[in-house]
Amino acid sequence: MSTKTITYSTLKQGIVSNADLPIDQEKEIISLRPTRFQDYIGQSETVETLKIAITAAQKRKEPIEHVLLHGPPGLGKTSLAHIIAHEMGGRLTVTSGPALEKGGDLLGILTHLEQGDVLFIDEIHRIPKVVEEFLYSAMEDFAIDVVFDKGIHARSHRYRLKHFVLVGATTRVGLLSAPLRERFGIFRNLDFYDEAELLIIIKRSAQLLKIYIDEAGAAELAKRSRGTPRILNRLLKRVRDYSQVKSDGQITLQTVQNALELEGIDEKGLSKLDRMYLKTIIDFYKGGPVGIEAIAATLQEETDTLVDVVEPYLLKIGFLARTSSGRKSLDSAFKHLGYRAQQALFTELL
Ligand SMILES: Nc1ncnc2c1ncn2[C@@H]1O[C@H](COP(=O)(O)OP(=O)(O)O)[C@@H](O)[C@H]1O
Ligand SMILES: [Mg+2]
Repeated sequence: MSTKTITYSTLKQGIVSNADLPIDQEKEIISLRPTRFQDYIGQSETVETLKIAITAAQKRKEPIEHVLLHGPPGLGKTSLAHIIAHEMGGRLTVTSGPALEKGGDLLGILTHLEQGDVLFIDEIHRIPKVVEEFLYSAMEDFAIDVVFDKGIHARSHRYRLKHFVLVGATTRVGLLSAPLRERFGIFRNLDFYDEAELLIIIKRSAQLLKIYIDEAGAAELAKRSRGTPRILNRLLKRVRDYSQVKSDGQITLQTVQNALELEGIDEKGLSKLDRMYLKTIIDFYKGGPVGIEAIAATLQEETDTLVDVVEPYLLKIGFLARTSSGRKSLDSAFKHLGYRAQQALFTELL
């Protein structure tokens, strides 16, 4: 996790990023990350809400309300922060919850913001409590009170802030405190993308990266991307590498199938970790219900990774259920992994 704040200027020249980003991440952002609504596919209700808010605010000549975006990684939260800044003609400052260790870190950032600038705080649920308390008045009153010294020497100073827009992103909205959540005027959930939307994103990415992929190949890639644009773009690059080495650089259904097999991605788009997660529930805990901590310990994985990265998609496709007594692997997961249906398997074992 970077502890640096990266500032992008999205004024007239388009995105200018500073040199803090690793080269290839920077290249990816410049080439594939949408910076305008017209390039942002899907999430139509969220886009509509934001467009209306921005247009209305511009008529009133004021910035929009603070925006909170929730959803699994790779669905386009950071991209939306870029778009909001770009569409409002403001600058975008990017930081993250864990990078803000002290109230002073935040003060430095906030006092440099101009009217209409966007401050993007990624993983906002991981912001330390002391920093969070600074945010309350910053968001609500556009002011921060700082107390210097202690005891009889204590004095406080009120810093006035410009009317900025806070965009917060989180994979776990449940971990956000109520006072923080309530200070966002706009709250949207991002959902997984359907295959038709992913297909449009593949075509756009292929065009930008100058990759030739045929219809059947693109459809297969869309099917295996876990409904997630970031995964899709990553796999498209792996498939491109594969086709350049193993065939003539043109991507067909066969190339996609071969390259993804090598990546450990199955027909449903599940990765090795997804499958190991399900197998752990089935092999060690008879299909569940089992607590997430027990699964994490058996798999020797971080609980957060399982909850943020693995589970949302398995829940979405009906392979997993979360019950009050724990996680349960469902019949479709048993079948997909080549087990007989749950009922049959375990009555046999008794
Ligand atoms: N709606 C979208 N349309 C096109 N590409 C998208 C979209 N959402 C995400 N992407 C692609 O996926 C990548 C990851 O998205 P990002 O905004 O970083 O996700 P998050 O912040 O939610 O993890 C982006 O760089 C972009 O290439
Ligand atoms: Mg992000």
